[in-house]
Amino acid sequence: MGFATDVIHAGQPPEPATGAVAVPIYQTSTYVQEGLGRHKGYEYARTHNPTRAALEANVAVLEGGVAGFAFASGMAAIHAVMTACLKAGDHVVVSDNTYGGTYRLFERVLTDFGLAFDYVDASDTEQVVAALRPTTRMVFLETPTNPVMRLCDIAAIAQAVRPQGIHVVVDNTFMSPYFQRPLTLGANIVVHSTTKYLNGHSDSVGGVVIVTEPEVAARLAFVQNAAGAILSPMDAWLTMRGIKTLVVRMQAHDANGRAVARFLREHPRVARVYYPGLPEHPQHALAARQMTGFGGMLAFDVGDLEAARRVLESLKVFALAESLGGVESLACHPATMTHASVPPAERQRLGITEGLVRLSVGIEDIADLLADLDQALASL
Ligand SMILES: Cc1ncc(COP(=O)(O)O)c(C=O)c1O
Repeated sequence: MGFATDVIHAGQPPEPATGAVAVPIYQTSTYVQEGLGRHKGYEYARTHNPTRAALEANVAVLEGGVAGFAFASGMAAIHAVMTACLKAGDHVVVSDNTYGGTYRLFERVLTDFGLAFDYVDASDTEQVVAALRPTTRMVFLETPTNPVMRLCDIAAIAQAVRPQGIHVVVDNTFMSPYFQRPLTLGANIVVHSTTKYLNGHSDSVGGVVIVTEPEVAARLAFVQNAAGAILSPMDAWLTMRGIKTLVVRMQAHDANGRAVARFLREHPRVARVYYPGLPEHPQHALAARQMTGFGGMLAFDVGDLEAARRVLESLKVFALAESLGGVESLACHPATMTHASVPPAERQRLGITEGLVRLSVGIEDIADLLADLDQALASL
């Protein structure tokens, strides 16, 4: 089936008892059993829930994997991948301006359990290869990276490290499977914060993992049940409902994202725009090859903290908020908000300056978004 058909139908046949076209919210903690050892495949809702299972089947198809797993947040999903695939003594190479919460989980939680992490500029495949150790078991990539929109070449990295039995995990939150399908490029695990584009309506927190190998699927199913950080039936249902419109939303985010990037590039008060869809983006060619669109995430630099504050506090349609990927436009200040947990020297090195403003461009009327940015920049 085509992608636009799969977002609506994959994993969601009409409910057999009534024919309901929407998967019901099975809000139950347990299931009646017919006799000892005789049941319908459902024993306890941490282990199995039909609403969650429908979402998991759906995302597995969208990313092209063999199985999907839904968790209570994107961070819970990432944590499950690490505990399912790694053990004390293992080493992980990470793309260096990955989401601040991921960095915090790795550095301030998982290092206490004997895992070691190295952060490299993964836009240069050679740096990933150079960082490998005999104990490296995983390469963890985010592309494009948040917030300066740097890419890494998923196919080249997978080709270089997969033959050594190293897992390649891609956080595909920013692009969604509509614009980027890492498993088709050679990665073997994809994670998402469904809180963002997959759900798309800023009304649920969740995460998913999609895998390509049955052994990894079995291990993740075990960890999902053993640690229990499952997505609730209500959130699974909301996320499924959101995914049904993924195609039309992503097309609208992309069109508005391109228009906002072009507008900011021409604006005299904007020093720099970070958007992979602009021809001057250093990795525009890779972006055009690896992704089928450029999406609605971008960042721009207005010089210093005071200027960023003025712009952010003058915006009226763009709301000042963390998070991204919803239908409404949001603006944030990475240095003091999303990336506050990254040490200042590291932030400086990554280009996360005090004057940097990040936008999650929503799907409102583009004329309103441009007028809002225009009046906010006029405050400078
Ligand atoms: C790229 C990326 N990955 C993972 C996460 C974590 O997801 P959650 O907030 O759902 O735990 C985020 C959150 O902002 C993110 O931007």
